Amino acid sequence: MISTTLLSVILGLSELLQDHVQPGSEPDDVVNRIIASGKRGRALTRQILEFSRAEPASRTPVSLGQVACEALDLVRVVLRPCTDLSVDLRAPNATIVADKGQIAQVITNLTINASDSLPDGVGRVGLTVDVTDELRPEIAAARAMGPPPDGAQRAAPRSWSSGGITWTLVGAVPEGPSLSAAIHDTGAGISDAQLQQIFEPYYTTKPQDSGTGLGLAIARRIVLDHGGAMLVRSRAGLGSTFEMILPAARG
Ligand SMILES: Nc1ncnc2c1ncn2[C@@H]1O[C@H](COP(=O)(O)OP(=O)(O)OP(=O)(O)O)[C@@H](O)[C@H]1O
Ligand SMILES: [Mg+2]
Repeated sequence: MISTTLLSVILGLSELLQDHVQPGSEPDDVVNRIIASGKRGRALTRQILEFSRAEPASRTPVSLGQVACEALDLVRVVLRPCTDLSVDLRAPNATIVADKGQIAQVITNLTINASDSLPDGVGRVGLTVDVTDELRPEIAAARAMGPPPDGAQRAAPRSWSSGGITWTLVGAVPEGPSLSAAIHDTGAGISDAQLQQIFEPYYTTKPQDSGTGLGLAIARRIVLDHGGAMLVRSRAGLGSTFEMILPAARG
């Protein structure tokens, strides 16, 4: 396995080299491509390391809104200029007990997926953080599904349709007060058949060397580890919303 440290060394040296080549020249183009591939490689290696990580997470009370905003700040730089990224913090001070880095990783993975779904990066990606509204019909419907089955099927997506919309739930909506962070996009959307597969490790529709297919598998594991659920609303051609629902911190 290539370590992220080695890739960082390659990146650092390539960036040094960049200062010595003429901007716009052929060598400049080559160095830029090395840097872009190195960055992608480093991101993919991190995903794989996270996926195989075994040690328990360290959890503290954190503001979900703040963690989400910090993650978006880092992700913003890799989005294409035509992507309109917006944030709606409706419960900025509400807290969860969580591993901050892992929650930031879920937000990052969902945001990059959302932006990848936009044709040529043109469209909108929005993040909304709020207290979960128990009056939403889909929350009631998700609760009515009950706990997930035991064993290997625990993390399997469960879908239902209502008013022409397909909802997909992974895990169970936590009992008691919870917070929600939802990423929505105006992108390609996901067909009903695909929705059953997207959380599987290594499932990807992206070109080879571009996606590992681990982003959603990692997001699912982190959310379930935190006692939460993932609720997805999507339709082919009509964009998607990925919402993580996590137990609110007590008191
Ligand atoms: N917001 C979205 N809109 C449309 N399709 C999506 C969206 N999010 C995920 N998908 C689909 O789910 C697949 C799996 O997503 P996942 O994040 O697990 O892997 P990936 O994005 O392909 O690769 P990686 O995350 O490792 O870069 C994607 O390839 C894509 O087909
Ligand atoms: Mg992804």
